[in-house]
Amino acid sequence: MRFPRSSVFKLLCLIILLEAVLCQETAQIMKDKASLLSFREGIVSDPHRALEDWNSLGVHVCNWSGIKCNKARDRVVELDLSGKALGGTISPSLANLSSLHILDLSRNFFKGRIPGELGTLSQLGELSLSSNLLEGSIAAELGFLRKLVYLNLGSNQLTGEIPMPLFCNHSSSSLQYLDLSNNSLSGEIPLPDGWELKHLRFLLLWSNRLVGQVPAALSNSSKLEWLDLESNMLSGELPSEIIRKMPQLQYLYLSYNRFVSHDGNTNLEPFFASLVNASNFQELELAGNNLGGDLPPIIGNLSTNLVQLHLDTNRIYGSIPPHISNLFNLTLLNLSSNLLNGTIPPKLCRMTKLERVFLSNNSLSGEIPSAFGDIPHLGLLDLSKNKLSGSIPDSFSNLSQLRRLFLYENLLTGTIPPSLGKCINLEILDLSHNQISGVVPSEVAGLRSLKLYLNLSSNHLHGLLPMELSKMDMVLAIDLSSNNLSSTIPSQLGSCIALEYLNLSVNSLEGPLPDSIGKLPYLQKLDVSSNQLNAQIPVSLQESLTLKKLNFSFNNFSGNVSNNGAFSLLTIDSFLGNAGLCGSIKGMSNCRKKHNHLAILPIILSLLITPIFCVFGYPLMHRSKFQKHLAVFDQEDSGDDEEEGKKEHKYPRISYEQLIEATGGFSASSLIGSGGFGHVYRGVLQDNSVIAVKVLDLKTDGDILGTFKRECRVLKRTRHRNLIRIITACSRPNFKALVLPLMSNGSLESHLYPSHGLKDQLNLIQLVSICSDVAEGVAYLHHHSPVRVVHCDLKPSNILLDEDMTALVTDFGIARLVKGGDEKGPTNDSASFSSADGLLCGSIGYIAPEYAMGKTISTEGDVFSYGVLLLEIVTGRRPTDVLVHEGSTLHEWVKSQYPRRLDPIVQQALDRCAADLMPKQYNKVWRDVVLELIELGLICTQYNPSMRPNMQDIAHEIGRLKDYISSPASFLIDEIDLKVEAP
Ligand SMILES: *[C@@H]1O[C@H](CO)[C@@H](O)[C@H](O)[C@H]1NC(C)=O
Ligand SMILES: *[C@@H]1O[C@H](CO)[C@@H](O)[C@H](O)[C@H]1NC(C)=O
Repeated sequence: MRFPRSSVFKLLCLIILLEAVLCQETAQIMKDKASLLSFREGIVSDPHRALEDWNSLGVHVCNWSGIKCNKARDRVVELDLSGKALGGTISPSLANLSSLHILDLSRNFFKGRIPGELGTLSQLGELSLSSNLLEGSIAAELGFLRKLVYLNLGSNQLTGEIPMPLFCNHSSSSLQYLDLSNNSLSGEIPLPDGWELKHLRFLLLWSNRLVGQVPAALSNSSKLEWLDLESNMLSGELPSEIIRKMPQLQYLYLSYNRFVSHDGNTNLEPFFASLVNASNFQELELAGNNLGGDLPPIIGNLSTNLVQLHLDTNRIYGSIPPHISNLFNLTLLNLSSNLLNGTIPPKLCRMTKLERVFLSNNSLSGEIPSAFGDIPHLGLLDLSKNKLSGSIPDSFSNLSQLRRLFLYENLLTGTIPPSLGKCINLEILDLSHNQISGVVPSEVAGLRSLKLYLNLSSNHLHGLLPMELSKMDMVLAIDLSSNNLSSTIPSQLGSCIALEYLNLSVNSLEGPLPDSIGKLPYLQKLDVSSNQLNAQIPVSLQESLTLKKLNFSFNNFSGNVSNNGAFSLLTIDSFLGNAGLCGSIKGMSNCRKKHNHLAILPIILSLLITPIFCVFGYPLMHRSKFQKHLAVFDQEDSGDDEEEGKKEHKYPRISYEQLIEATGGFSASSLIGSGGFGHVYRGVLQDNSVIAVKVLDLKTDGDILGTFKRECRVLKRTRHRNLIRIITACSRPNFKALVLPLMSNGSLESHLYPSHGLKDQLNLIQLVSICSDVAEGVAYLHHHSPVRVVHCDLKPSNILLDEDMTALVTDFGIARLVKGGDEKGPTNDSASFSSADGLLCGSIGYIAPEYAMGKTISTEGDVFSYGVLLLEIVTGRRPTDVLVHEGSTLHEWVKSQYPRRLDPIVQQALDRCAADLMPKQYNKVWRDVVLELIELGLICTQYNPSMRPNMQDIAHEIGRLKDYISSPASFLIDEIDLKVEAP
């Protein structure tokens, strides 16, 4: 039904008049109010009802959410609606709020252009529209905002050139912070000679398409602390003359542009000299510019506060000057992918705070200084792809924190020092493609810490395959190919149970291939080609459910090979050069005797069962979930012990009639979700508490199981800030509903994949905090709740976010009890589980692989799902989506990119969820955190359940990450206190 416009207008006037009387509003504030209401007209979506109290009867405009007034309460001075998920356009009517000091609409979904009218807000000190979907060019009128201190338009879709008035009209202005980063702005930086931005402290223009030179007039901004021009197309000589005038500079990012060094790209000295006076200088990034010249000794005169130095991917030649060792606070040094030659100066190792050193892909020669052993916190050393000779120093044994050691593609000789076995935190050891001889020392083969890979391939190693390799029960890949290893393959290798990739090809191994190799539960690729192995190929390999690639070529294998089981994927290429083999592989000569096809049938069946289960598991799972909900919260079902009885009274009784009233008769307009279980409605109780009512669909046959009484009891007893709490249940013969508190920010899923196709709203700090909350909640279920509970269905849609973005785990519909005390033992008191129940635990993409193999549910299964969740959060890809597009599970796909092809994934994650995190200066922190999340995700999704960490350790680890990521942020908030005080 429609009212004529005029009556709506009259009605509106009447209401405003009425309110004016009620709230004693002045004429001025009435005008501001009208402007705000007009602004609200432009907002088409407000999913969290952030503007609910706007224009409520009796609420003074100065008390509306996001509004602040002056003392007299007759003018609006602040409008802050940041991070409210608002969608729509920004109405020019805001320009009528002529006393506005602060306008912050950042982190929303505002589209369209920035209205030029905002340029008339003469009092505006802070304007933040960052992280929206704003497009078009920047209105030149914004240059008229003479009182502006803080301007942030970063992370939008702005195009066109930066209007000159934005820089130039501020010549007498107080602008201190200017952020236009992460847009598609083109043209030059419009700061003509003679203009000055005297007060500018922060200039962030990274990730645009800016061209031309850094304008000379920027040298008038002598208070500049951060200059970030990374990832543009800026050219010309490095802006040394400009930088020289900036003694306060802390962060300088010029990476990924087209700068050249002085004197025709041959001299870096003037640039480094220009930085010498910046006494608080902390990070320099110059990577990816093709800069020429050698590293001048003056580099050692930079501030000792320097923490990170990134000069990678340039054309820097000559040797590394020993003077660099004066930078004794340096923690990261990246000189990789240059043209450096000469030796590595041992003095380098005087920088004892170094944690990561990248010198790979240069032409460094000479020996590896043994002084590397003196860097106590060294965690990563990458000297790969150089011309280093000599042997691996014994002193590496001092590096107790070393996690990654890359020495591949050098000219190293000598033997592998047994003392490397003392690097008890080593996760990756890559010595491949050198000229290392001798045997594989048992100490190194026994490095239990190796979690990721051991690569000793393409060397001159000889001797036996050490038995100690069997201690590497966490390692995912072992490559010993192209050496001279001899003797037999020890059957003990079958103890490397996490192994997914094993390459022993091109050696002199003899004897049979042990049956135990085929029984490695997660082995996917096996290459034993070009050895002298003999006898039959073990049948265990054929029965493996995980093997995908096999190579037996050029050995002396004999006997009958069928094309069944894992071998059905193979062609003759995997069997070449074995004269004694016959069988049904295409291209292979037939054996005389026909083999029994029936014997293989179980293998084929078991191969087939997994996909069938995947296809049909989903809908079935939902039905069983529904049944259990019903059982858990039916009131007749509880109260079977005294304590329970007492607790019961704490639950408010809410009648069916009250629920009808609260939800407007379960009206369509209050419907907020539905699924296989039924529908969810939003409701408001008489005491104004907002609830979610989950009404179960009774059309499904509800066979209530008594075995869920215990489950019910536990769920009602669990009290944890990260687990959703049930307010009450309403049970009638034909109506069953759960009443839960409504989580104002919806589910994690809705934030990861906003349905309106809008961009991601959660930043990295929030995501880490959510991961931490979920880990805490699940750790409570696993380790601290009265009876151990396995959740069984961790996934983004089962994680809800409250108004503070605290995450709460919900939907215990298919949770299982595990007997206390007994860690591994699944519940057996649930006699009524159908056999299918044991299998159908969880959702496709998140189910631990052992469930598909018929294993009973366990806390390790939850850990697996949690790992998938971490990887999903980082990659922003649904596991099912990866399954469809990549043909592999999410964790396999990530693992296949690990560790050398992770960069795009990390970058995308940063683009998605760190872009609006001030400051990009901490980019390295975000990058580290993303990497750690990926690694934790991979560790949690190991195939072998017993290798996965427990939830308590995970919660601890993520808690640590959370502290780490939030401390630089808080540091920043202290640093940039540019907020304009409201009068
Ligand atoms: C650098 O090192 C010195 C001495 O070791 C120390 O006093 C100073 O605080 C360090 N600076 C930073 C930024 O860590
Ligand atoms: C390093 O390369 C430069 C040319 O770029 C050459 O003049 C010099 O002799 C080389 N030094 C060594 C030690 O190879």
